Amino acid sequence: DTSHVWGGRFSEPTDAFVQRFTASVGFDQRLAVQDISGSLAHADMLRHVGVLTAAEHRQIVDGMRQVQEEIDRGEFNWSTALEDVHMNIEARLTELIGSTGKKLHTGRSRNDQVATDIRLFLRDAIDTISTALTHLQRGAVSLAEAHADTVMPGFTHLQTAQPVTFGHHVLAWNEMLERDHGRLMDCRARLNQCPLGAAALAGTPYPIDREHTAQALGFDAPTANSLDSVSDRDFAIEFCSFAALLMTHLSRISEELVLWTSAQFDFVRLPDRFCTGSSIMPQKKNPDVPELVRGKVGRVNGNLVALLTLMKSQPLAYNKDNQEDKEPLFDTVDTVIDSLRAFGDMLPAVEPCVDNLREAARRGFSTATDLADYLVRKGMPFRDAHEVVGNAVAHGIDEGLDLAEMDLATLQSFSTTIEQDVYGMLTLEGSVAARNHIGGTAPEQVRAAIDRARALLEQR
Ligand code: ARG
Repeated sequence: DTSHVWGGRFSEPTDAFVQRFTASVGFDQRLAVQDISGSLAHADMLRHVGVLTAAEHRQIVDGMRQVQEEIDRGEFNWSTALEDVHMNIEARLTELIGSTGKKLHTGRSRNDQVATDIRLFLRDAIDTISTALTHLQRGAVSLAEAHADTVMPGFTHLQTAQPVTFGHHVLAWNEMLERDHGRLMDCRARLNQCPLGAAALAGTPYPIDREHTAQALGFDAPTANSLDSVSDRDFAIEFCSFAALLMTHLSRISEELVLWTSAQFDFVRLPDRFCTGSSIMPQKKNPDVPELVRGKVGRVNGNLVALLTLMKSQPLAYNKDNQEDKEPLFDTVDTVIDSLRAFGDMLPAVEPCVDNLREAARRGFSTATDLADYLVRKGMPFRDAHEVVGNAVAHGIDEGLDLAEMDLATLQSFSTTIEQDVYGMLTLEGSVAARNHIGGTAPEQVRAAIDRARALLEQR
């Protein structure tokens, strides 16, 4: 109706459906804490530059405290007629303290207000996510440490390739997560500028002090351009892009855990508390947690595409389109926090089946490359060595024998270069220990990599 705060130039009430359609308070009330912080910083700045008196400022601070308490107690009456979180809070403040409440919006617009709120919200979320990601990485490094010597098959094309250690495999996961954390910190650094003062789009004629509000809210600096300040949502897109990649990594780890817990692999066990049963098949223990995390990549990728599409072709400066930024962002934050929590609890509790891992590595001719390398060291060109070993493997497949199980005469029938010392090369331990360089799977290197990973985590 014409009683809206902006109702002065209107001659008929807003259509009831349009009111509901354009309102965002149903979801943006989640920004209440940030909205109040932003308002308090703005009011303090207005007092500092003499636009508000000390008494007016005090009234606003006291009124806002009461508003915050009402919200905390769940007693705040959110109204769709008041459209969004910003106008709901301001209206309640004015109810409580009278016309001084109406002075709060001096030198400000909802456009710079909402941009500030989202940045504050996302900065908090990033800090929570950073802690959760660090916790997960610590768990991964501990799991790697416990199994720095545990031999398993390494795969390419999901076919047995060469022996690796379980610890080395888990450290590969940690590398993905380490890069994710770096991207998260990059996002935080670029996000941490304060849009307050941009007002609607052009700035404001009041003698504002943008450094003052920026500092009060813990931002590194005010944003540089008023038009960009109210229309930029890059920080939300960068965050969702970080999230899409993190979730992609968690889905890759999930996929391996799902495969490895199957009876056909039987590489690891997940504690019962991370699994569920079947309502019909009594024998079932399903790896629900990794499956669900794998599935949640879909919504996170969708949210990223939603935000990119939201911003595409938007003219400067603020457009109502931007009200659509919040739900994808909130959903992404919630999904990432829950997924990291699930993984942070579960990963350290993964129990590798050491004997099965070893047996799988032994069965798949995983030391075939080691035999070829042995022949090369004795002077044979690599391509010829590859051929010799290929023939030995074909024989092993026919006879059901691993290379290490063939007697010397049999091995020598493929090449007389082979001597008794070959058996040292064909053991799983010999194979992994030989890959002893930075980034290699030798247990000695895995332990060095664990030390480096821990040192990085300590610096956070
Ligand atoms: N609810 C709006 C949003 O989420 C706040 C900014 C509205 N500004 C405006 N001029 N309509 O983006």
